Amino acid sequence: MALLVSFFLLWGIILSGVRPSSVATLSSPSTVPLKTLHQLLEEADQAAAAAAPQAGPALPLPPSLDPWYRAPTTYDWTQTEPGQVLKIRQAPFLNWTVGNALRAYQLLYRSTDSQYNPAWDVTTLFIPRWQARCSPQTPHLCAHAVLSYQLPYDTCNVDASPSYGLHLGEPYGEIADALALGWFVAVPDYEGPLASYAAGVQAGHATIDGVRAVLQVGGLFGLRMDVTKVALWGYSGGALASEWAAELAVQYAPKMKFAGIALGGLTPNVTGVTDFLNGKEGAGLIPAGLLGIATQHPDAYRWIVSRLRPALRDRFLSVRKMTARQAIRTFMYNDIYSYFVGGYKDLHTRVMQMMYNIDGFMGYHGVPRMPVFIYNAVHDELSDIKEVDELVDRFCGVGANILYHRNLAGTHHQEIVNGRQRAFAWLRSVLDGSYDQLYSSMGCTIQNVTYNLAPYVGWW
Ligand SMILES: *[C@@H]1O[C@H](CO)[C@@H](O)[C@H](O)[C@H]1NC(C)=O
Ligand SMILES: *[C@@H]1O[C@H](CO)[C@@H](O)[C@H](O)[C@H]1NC(C)=O
Ligand SMILES: *[C@@H]1O[C@H](CO)[C@@H](O)[C@H](O)[C@H]1NC(C)=O
Repeated sequence: MALLVSFFLLWGIILSGVRPSSVATLSSPSTVPLKTLHQLLEEADQAAAAAAPQAGPALPLPPSLDPWYRAPTTYDWTQTEPGQVLKIRQAPFLNWTVGNALRAYQLLYRSTDSQYNPAWDVTTLFIPRWQARCSPQTPHLCAHAVLSYQLPYDTCNVDASPSYGLHLGEPYGEIADALALGWFVAVPDYEGPLASYAAGVQAGHATIDGVRAVLQVGGLFGLRMDVTKVALWGYSGGALASEWAAELAVQYAPKMKFAGIALGGLTPNVTGVTDFLNGKEGAGLIPAGLLGIATQHPDAYRWIVSRLRPALRDRFLSVRKMTARQAIRTFMYNDIYSYFVGGYKDLHTRVMQMMYNIDGFMGYHGVPRMPVFIYNAVHDELSDIKEVDELVDRFCGVGANILYHRNLAGTHHQEIVNGRQRAFAWLRSVLDGSYDQLYSSMGCTIQNVTYNLAPYVGWW
């Protein structure tokens, strides 16, 4: 669980919509064949052209109300492979609200939830401006890198998902910076249609399959599939999704090649984060995280709701319609354990522990096979640095290739700025092939560093 202040400032105004009652509606199998990607893309472009008379295109509805955020009903999509693109649409505003984008598309694709049931997720694909120069006659000018950029959105409200929230602009300007480098940038709604904030398996699968989906259609946009490299990047809640993707890929996507992964502000232990945050400024992430992760574990969800003190139940559950910013403001300094009849113990019963064991602890599902860059503030106030040290030790003990920067300066929020240049430099090297020359490509390098660029910002 994690957050970043500027993100809330920008996205706090997203209207909360109604939660979907049942999102992944299953259709009865039918004989309608899957459309080709070409057909899907053609239809998306035609629909956008038809819908854009003088008045211009219309803003989409929030995901909870928008029928586009539903699985197809004309065929049995659950039988498709993870990563299969099921729907494509243009996102004609996102190339205005996000800099350096030629076009933006949204893909709805098959994935797998934390219970290993078929599920679907949505990613937003940004095509860089440079790609306008790409043509069959000028293949050397066509893009050959994909960055899957996991935004920390930290909410159990599906209407605060990036595919919708990015219409208000991007919080950190990092998508625009990555596009300026000529990379395709994909931003998955990795919490999925249930807004399963803090559910590691869900987020990891959604991230992996988002990349698969992008690679499926990349060729249609001139991506040079023969030489394309893929990297993952995330900070805080976005690092959670990215790290889980790297661990799970070992078995879930053994043939997929990632050039590298950059992770900042890691939260390896979901209960550790809860203990760390309770009663503090960021306490509002706890109710959001508990309900978010529990959307993947119906027994735990029912348990949580049943153990809320009746007088506080509505207040606790109101977080379901909040953005991260609203949740922080509402629950600031609250003792979240006191919302429960049995206090702290209620969050550590067997049904809760089973949930944490599946979705809450990094380091137990696989060893990242790609180069890893980790940057973390030693004085991070969201997650104890000791847990990041342990995670790194664990991976290093079995031969991972990691560069780990422990920044002696700054806090969780400052590290996003303090680490940005280093993350970009590192990502460039893995995507342009210079990594082996610039970094150690064997074993682990752990460094105490001091980068103090960002002014202090509080949680609020
Ligand atoms: C954004 O993309 C649409 C097509 O989806 C295009 O018509 C429009 O000109 C683009 N806007 C910018 C600012 O590039
Ligand atoms: C996670 O943190 C909790 C609380 O601090 C601790 O008791 C537990 O051992 C940790 N679990 C793992 C897997 O590190
Ligand atoms: C980094 O600093 C810590 C103290 O904060 C120290 O224990 C550790 O040995 C140092 N690590 C390196 C690689 O210098």
